[in-house]
Amino acid sequence: MSLQRLLGTELPLIQAPMAGAQGAALAVAACKAGALGSLPCAMLSVDAMRKELASIRAGTDRPYNVNFFTHTPPAADARRETAWRAALTPYYREYGIDPHKIPAGPGRAPFTAQAADALEEFKPAVVSFHFGLPAASLLDRVRASGAKILSSATTVEEAIWLEAHGVDAIIAQGAEAGGHRGTFLNDDYSTQPGTFALLPQVVRAVKVPVIAAGGIADAKGVAAAIALGAAGVQVGTAYLLCPEATTSAVHRAALKSEAARNTALTNVFTGRPARGIVNRVMRELGPMSNGVPAFPLATSAIAPLRAKAEAQGSGDFSPLWSGQNATGCREVPAGEITRALAEGL
Ligand SMILES: Cc1cc2nc3c(=O)[nH]c(=O)nc-3n(C[C@H](O)[C@H](O)[C@H](O)COP(=O)(O)O)c2cc1C
Repeated sequence: MSLQRLLGTELPLIQAPMAGAQGAALAVAACKAGALGSLPCAMLSVDAMRKELASIRAGTDRPYNVNFFTHTPPAADARRETAWRAALTPYYREYGIDPHKIPAGPGRAPFTAQAADALEEFKPAVVSFHFGLPAASLLDRVRASGAKILSSATTVEEAIWLEAHGVDAIIAQGAEAGGHRGTFLNDDYSTQPGTFALLPQVVRAVKVPVIAAGGIADAKGVAAAIALGAAGVQVGTAYLLCPEATTSAVHRAALKSEAARNTALTNVFTGRPARGIVNRVMRELGPMSNGVPAFPLATSAIAPLRAKAEAQGSGDFSPLWSGQNATGCREVPAGEITRALAEGL
């Protein structure tokens, strides 16, 4: 079956869910241009998610995707947290932040029964997961709501696992991709293949449609992915400068600068590897650190530094998520980006 038929869209293109950089407006704009628009929910409370879903429904009657992380929240580890805050102390001093007044707590929530309730109300056509799949009882509820289910694979083994667990399509997320790696079976990030090495191997290993993601920024990239057997393409970074995205000012400035040529995988912002434009804190404490609290607990220690630095126009402590190819970023409406990508189909 073609990906368009499976998803109910005009085009086999997905606007990638990007937590912290977009809400309903970008999803609606992508849907209106014929792609599958996505709503990322990892950083939304269930109430906020309901509001965004209502806004998508008010903006379009086309199919859309709702996206969740599926991590198991870790137990708090006071020693690790204290050691990490000690590593950040010079920066707290520099910005006049009292480290004792920083609240601990998670920065990103996994899929829950309450979120499943909301999906049963709104019945989105597609639900996608990152970091594997939720518990079988929750996954059954999503499937029973009528949604098609997608998840990301960063290796051939993950793709085979996802197919065996009943997903309708697999997003092959190459190492070039911006944001968090969808990795869930193996934590050796050094061996993960790039998009155009991973894609044909996944296509050969599974029967379900495979969607290419990572480093695809224009029509030629889309055409190359299709030539390698992709049933469709998921694009994130190229949408980050669109007026409908909520990308912060420092993030937009970094994407427009030559700094965007240098991205790296880093865990210093959340505790889990994600690709972003190299900045001061990544250079000085990472980009990968063994001392960081477990995902997503690392978010709280850096949050006040990020806020103070951003208020002064600096992205030194911000996660500047970006794929390795930011050349597709343009300050034009998302419909225009979508139509330009579609020329590669
Ligand atoms: C700013 C940003 C935030 C992201 N957040 C999410 C997310 O919340 N959920 C998710 O499944 N993927 C997320 N991703 C990864 C995308 O789904 C996708 O794999 C990636 O954008 C594709 O590579 P590209 O950025 O090179 O196009 C994010 C990517 C970026 C750039």
